[in-house]
Amino acid sequence: MGTLLTLLQKELSLSIFSAFGEEIEADVSPSLEEFGHYQCNSALRLAKGLKQNPRSVAQKLIDHLRCKEWFSKVEIAGPGFINFTLSPTFLSSQLNLQIRDPFLGAAPVDRKIKMIVEFSSPNVAKELHVGHLRSTIIGDCIARLFEFLRYDVLRLNHIGDWGTQFGMLIAYIIEKGFETSQFATLPELMQWYRAAKKRFDEDPEFKKRSQLEVVRLQSEDPKAMAIWRWICAVSRKGYQEIYDLLGVNLLERGESFYNPYLKKVVQELEEKGLVQVSDGAKCIFLEGFKNREGEPLPLIIQKSDGGYNYATTDLAAIRYRIFEDRAERIICVTDIGQSLHFQMIFAAAEKAGWLDLQKAKVDHVGFGLVLGPDGKKFKTRSGETEKLIDLLNEAVLHARKLILERNPDADEKKLEQLSRVLGIGAVKYADLSSSRTKDYTFSYDRMLRFEGNTAVFLLYSFVRLQGIERKVGLDITQVMAHHQIALAHPSEISLGFHLRRFGEVLALFSADLFPNHLTDYLYSLAEKFHAFFRDCRVEGSEEEESRLILCELTRRVLKQGLSILGLETVDRM
Ligand code: ARG
Repeated sequence: MGTLLTLLQKELSLSIFSAFGEEIEADVSPSLEEFGHYQCNSALRLAKGLKQNPRSVAQKLIDHLRCKEWFSKVEIAGPGFINFTLSPTFLSSQLNLQIRDPFLGAAPVDRKIKMIVEFSSPNVAKELHVGHLRSTIIGDCIARLFEFLRYDVLRLNHIGDWGTQFGMLIAYIIEKGFETSQFATLPELMQWYRAAKKRFDEDPEFKKRSQLEVVRLQSEDPKAMAIWRWICAVSRKGYQEIYDLLGVNLLERGESFYNPYLKKVVQELEEKGLVQVSDGAKCIFLEGFKNREGEPLPLIIQKSDGGYNYATTDLAAIRYRIFEDRAERIICVTDIGQSLHFQMIFAAAEKAGWLDLQKAKVDHVGFGLVLGPDGKKFKTRSGETEKLIDLLNEAVLHARKLILERNPDADEKKLEQLSRVLGIGAVKYADLSSSRTKDYTFSYDRMLRFEGNTAVFLLYSFVRLQGIERKVGLDITQVMAHHQIALAHPSEISLGFHLRRFGEVLALFSADLFPNHLTDYLYSLAEKFHAFFRDCRVEGSEEEESRLILCELTRRVLKQGLSILGLETVDRM
């Protein structure tokens, strides 16, 4: 059914055409609540061109409107804005359609569109750190949004599984005589990595052996490859534990995947005349990119020793994603520190003629740092920034304490499940609800508050909605088969209009990729629901059926919204 905003845009554009013969898209936007529901600002612009009084242009637009019965009030304000207030009858009929729409009023895509969301992307032999956690949470949410809107989404984990650092790790593993059939954990691997690094820095002979292992690995020597595969497998098991706890799915396609393409990519760029040699390194100079001194900033694609780098891999990746995956939209989620890198990759891909912005859209979704309550870079209890699993388990533990305070004899099995849903949900929600480009402060106490913009408050609201339906005890499908929503009370109208705006919020989110649009929306939804429930009796009232259906629609929108955020719900709390 699409959004009301697009519907109004269409109607007002028609009205512009029939009044003035102009084919322009009407400028419609949501209003501040006290002025009505939507406003149209087109009269002012039209009046300029037509050299007419904007208020009389506005009046003509209103006169030519086909759908006057949708509104209880249409007002010209100020120099020529038009304010629209939807009538309760129209709004009610919209909600009665919305509840039957599988997309709940959002607009899914009408053809198959391939899309890549690349996120998480940790590095082998290193544990995920909080930055990777943010990438995982934000990326998963963005992927869920587009999956809901029926895009064909490929979720890629661009793992850092290649590079010269593997040489020293392999040399160390050989030196220690570790067997690849042996069981090892990610923390052990990290320990070896640190030890190998130390050996590398201190012992020139070890350094030589490490460099030799790099060459062996690059020429696919079976022994080096076997050890490398083992290292990757151990790492993978470590990450998987975290993805499982978070409920996140990812397809692993690490940097090594693009190895076979690196040489060709550099060759192609050279053939296109884009490459210049500077200090022995092959570089691409792109317009508009300068360093701090104002000198042209190169994108290095092959180092002077002939080695390829992070940028070469990313160029191969974007090329592969456009031509092999046939992606029409590509989103990469990393810390905001990499934003210049991605702007340069996108610009280079455009210059190479691979990326045509008419056909594909690319976005780097950057995010800020995670800070501890002290305002410094976040550290877990053990003092190591890397122990991500501890951080998640700690959140679950905090949630458990909170539940026990309220309900000391909670049943152990339920307690366990509820603590996990609340704890993990709280971590995700705290991240998603802060504007992603800013640094955000991590605090267990704040994220687990019952009041305010938190996961706990939303999950509690959901439980309350379930409770109302349980208490009334009617079969909701039966009620819906014989009754309709009929809004009357101002709190009902306010909740109803907010419900109908679900699709608008998802459209906004898909455009700028800020998940906090959705959290803000759900928070207001919960508040409006609580106001409605305070002001309007449901059980045993004359309006019982209508209000029950309104609750059901609220429940569905809230559930769908939480599911896009990656939050599970519970029936009781
Ligand atoms: N592995 C990188 C890191 O830990 C992130 C990879 C981001 N994706 C990319 N295509 N460069 O910072």
